[in-house]
Amino acid sequence: MIPLDRVLEDAVRRADAAGHTVRGTTSPNPPVGAVVLNIDGAVVGVGATSPPGGAHAEVNALADAGERARGGTAVVTLEPCNHTGRTGPCSRALVEAGIARVIFVFADPGKVEGGGAEFLRGHGVEVTGPLYDPTDMPAGVPVFSVEPWLAAQHLGRPYVTVKYAATMDGFAAATDGTSQWITGEQARERVHLDRSRRDAILVGSGTVAADNPRLTARRPDESLYDHQPLRVVVGATGLREDAAVRPALHMPTRDLQEVLRELADRGVVDVLVEGGPHLAAAFIAAGLVDAVEAYTAPALLGAGLPAVAAGVDVQTTISGIQQFTLREVATLGRDVLTVMTRRCLPSRGARIEGN
Ligand SMILES: NC(=O)c1ccc[n+]([C@@H]2O[C@H](COP(=O)([O-])OP(=O)(O)OC[C@H]3O[C@@H](n4cnc5c(N)ncnc54)[C@H](OP(=O)(O)O)[C@@H]3O)[C@@H](O)[C@H]2O)c1
Repeated sequence: MIPLDRVLEDAVRRADAAGHTVRGTTSPNPPVGAVVLNIDGAVVGVGATSPPGGAHAEVNALADAGERARGGTAVVTLEPCNHTGRTGPCSRALVEAGIARVIFVFADPGKVEGGGAEFLRGHGVEVTGPLYDPTDMPAGVPVFSVEPWLAAQHLGRPYVTVKYAATMDGFAAATDGTSQWITGEQARERVHLDRSRRDAILVGSGTVAADNPRLTARRPDESLYDHQPLRVVVGATGLREDAAVRPALHMPTRDLQEVLRELADRGVVDVLVEGGPHLAAAFIAAGLVDAVEAYTAPALLGAGLPAVAAGVDVQTTISGIQQFTLREVATLGRDVLTVMTRRCLPSRGARIEGN
């Protein structure tokens, strides 16, 4: 990582926070965030990617800053684009606004969109970036809003995050199948916010049968977030008559590659797998897990359904262990959220077939 001073580090975090607010609404485009600092280093503009067809993050941040952008610095989570698609090139907009320095977090992997850094340098703008290589993220750096999109470009399939809530002894449900609520209010709040920032959420038919969840993204007062992810139920079993999730997409299959292909066809880039234990295990066994969000409660059950149940008959050996990087550990009330991401993206050619 390229070291930055404190002001710029804060600006990177602020730009990423802006990117997170539009996650789930920009696909197939990346949810980018941008911040404009004036010549004295004060934040004068913040922007994020508009829905497809709308302005890119840089253009929104420049509009927010107006004349105060002149001679200033733009901090963007993805390299500014350099082509005229549905919107004009951001690199040109930055030059025209009189931006003196551009800092970007990740390079744009697109053949057409990439190259903004070169254009900026050619027009006398000081350029710093990329700050990180998305295939080699260091521990302790929370997941950037554009990472799922970047990984999906690389993998050629939607980015998969497996989420579960478990007791300290590793159980996601009691022996009688009850599991609500293992974790507390703050953890649930975070899960709902997380849902509101995904393209799709997935559960297996076992979870629908046991819990009859709505799978909507709700605020603590039960009101719905503006963005609701596509709700998907996977499994051969038909949905129960009274399923709260009836308007969901039901995919009567156990072929996870087929599921991801179908979702990609629908423009889905970023998927949250919300369980249960058998579906989670199947994704892990198929080598299709890019990130894990584990909510752990300070509680014990002693027996029950493990958070990740071996649903498929697979033999493992320690040399085949899947290594991840610890990105974030957060205390949410009485619970702990641990976030990890796959240490290295497998190359496109090395894709693992699902079971
Ligand atoms: N604590 C948590 O985070 C959490 C989250 C969710 C659920 N739960 C609890 O988990 C329990 C339900 O567990 P579960 O494991 O039955 O739920 P599940 O994983 O949601 O559902 C299992 C079903 O998923 C379908 N499926 C689709 N693709 C599959 C594949 N490749 N391999 C295996 N199965 C596949 C199968 O349905 P078909 O048989 O129809 O093909 C299978 O029976 C409930 O007690 C619920 O409360 C806990």
